[in-house]
Amino acid sequence: MALRPIICIPDNRLRLKSQPIERVDDDVRRLMDDMLETMYDAPGIGLAAIQIAVPRRVVVIDTSKEGEDARPISFVNPEIVWSSEEKSVYQEGCLSIPEYYEDVERPARVRARYLDREGRENEIEADGLLATALQHEIDHLNGVLFIDHISRLKRERVWKKFVKAAKHNANEPGHPAHDSREL
Ligand code: NI
Repeated sequence: MALRPIICIPDNRLRLKSQPIERVDDDVRRLMDDMLETMYDAPGIGLAAIQIAVPRRVVVIDTSKEGEDARPISFVNPEIVWSSEEKSVYQEGCLSIPEYYEDVERPARVRARYLDREGRENEIEADGLLATALQHEIDHLNGVLFIDHISRLKRERVWKKFVKAAKHNANEPGHPAHDSREL
């Protein structure tokens, strides 16, 4: 396993549409392991492959709380096949938009279809934080960020802030400390 650098806005690769995985092989499992290690290290509760600059449809999530046993789930080619009418609001963050949080409204429950680590077809029904995380990460695979779900004014403000910071930090790349709610 290896830690991989996480890319942040305004890096435009975050806007790419990731490509489906054709076969879940050892390369894909290695990618999942690297993603999990990178996510736990950040720390975060979800990560999409594009956040480590790999435009493939792979997501890892672990919504277990501190002190609980780790419950990592790897998703290949995940797809939402049903969402509830009922909505819920959660204050989201993102490892690619460090230290920025905003309320986002999404369907409260979703069902997703995906391939697991072994390449088997699987379905999961999620609510609460897992439902939010799944939708947030699947958005990443389509080049969509959680700030796309907030007002344009707020989005432009945060984008400008990161453009400015990127110019400022051009000579000293680094990654600030993260809150555990980042996805
Ligand atoms: Ni994110």
